[in-house]
Amino acid sequence: MAILDILEFPDTRLRTVAKPVDPAAVATPAFQSRLDDMFETMYEAPGIGLAASQVDVHERFMVIDVSDDRSQPLVFVNPEILEREGEQVYQEGCLSVPDIFADVTRANSIRVRAIGRDGEAFEMAADGLLAVCIQHEMDHLAGKLFVDYLSPLKREMVRKKLAKRKRA
Ligand code: NI
Repeated sequence: MAILDILEFPDTRLRTVAKPVDPAAVATPAFQSRLDDMFETMYEAPGIGLAASQVDVHERFMVIDVSDDRSQPLVFVNPEILEREGEQVYQEGCLSVPDIFADVTRANSIRVRAIGRDGEAFEMAADGLLAVCIQHEMDHLAGKLFVDYLSPLKREMVRKKLAKRKRA
């Protein structure tokens, strides 16, 4: 396994729209070891979700674990949201936007379809933090970041803060 480099805002590679994964590729050793690397990178960071886009792999998959004891790894390949309901506001952060947190409004509950680690399609319902995380990671696959929901002025402040942090 390996810790992968995480791209950071405003790196334009984070804006790449990811391409669908060939479902037949999921079971291959290469893809499985990529998933292992993504989990290791996410747990080490530490974070609760990581989209392939963030490690400069522009394919539609992501890993998530919102459990306190890091015992519930979830893999979503080619995820699609089938239903969304209600609204929630959560103070989000992102491994690609270090040390920045901001309120984002998203659907409160969702129903999602994806292919799992075993290569089989599944559907699941999610709400609360898991629903936030799925929507956040799916944004990454579309080249979108949570700071895009902020006002242009706030986003510029974030960019300056990160540039300063990088120089320090
Ligand atoms: Ni993120």
